[in-house]
Amino acid sequence: MMWSEPRRFEVDVDAGLMQGSGTRYQKRLQDLHGLYADGAAFDARLASQGQEVVYDVTDFRPSSSPGDLITGVTRMSPGKIGDEFYLTRGHVHAIIDRPELYYGLKGKGLMLMESPDGETRIIEIGPNTACYVAPHWIHRSVNVGDEDFVMLFCYPADSGQDYGIIERSQGMKLRIVDDGAGGWRSVENPAYTGRSEADVLALLARGGIGSEVAA
Ligand SMILES: [Fe+2]
Repeated sequence: MMWSEPRRFEVDVDAGLMQGSGTRYQKRLQDLHGLYADGAAFDARLASQGQEVVYDVTDFRPSSSPGDLITGVTRMSPGKIGDEFYLTRGHVHAIIDRPELYYGLKGKGLMLMESPDGETRIIEIGPNTACYVAPHWIHRSVNVGDEDFVMLFCYPADSGQDYGIIERSQGMKLRIVDDGAGGWRSVENPAYTGRSEADVLALLARGGIGSEVAA
């Protein structure tokens, strides 16, 4: 019998990465067009800081089998575009009923979540905080602190990611901005279109094991 091999990984909390994990990807400011409300502020920053790495992910993907797990570490830089804090692109899982667990290691951030029919939840995450992202929730993380925000995450290996879901509704319903007093507040996104009942039903009916939905 060929058993799947147990593994051990060192997490470098200061560097915000999982050592020897196998895969790493980085998102630079220039990769994040259209995410922020203030397009002019984004364009102005792009000229001088387009190469800045906003967040990076190291993860271990043993397989894409249902029942297996992908485990990794994500690190996001502190910063804002206009008054809006740095955030990840965000997604819902391609197999939409797959959940995810995050565990805060360093810094101060939020998990911004939205259900297919537009309910919203925000969970604050700091060191030693666990955040359970339930099945079906669109999720994105936001760094609301002044240092790197680092989390460990774990999700079913066949989940896949639909990165287009947020784009299709012109952003998430809420944006996270500086409250002017050293903290954050959420504001409504006026461009948000939401999803029709038919869209929601189509999402719930969606299958495609291991698939990645591009658009
Ligand atoms: Fe996820």
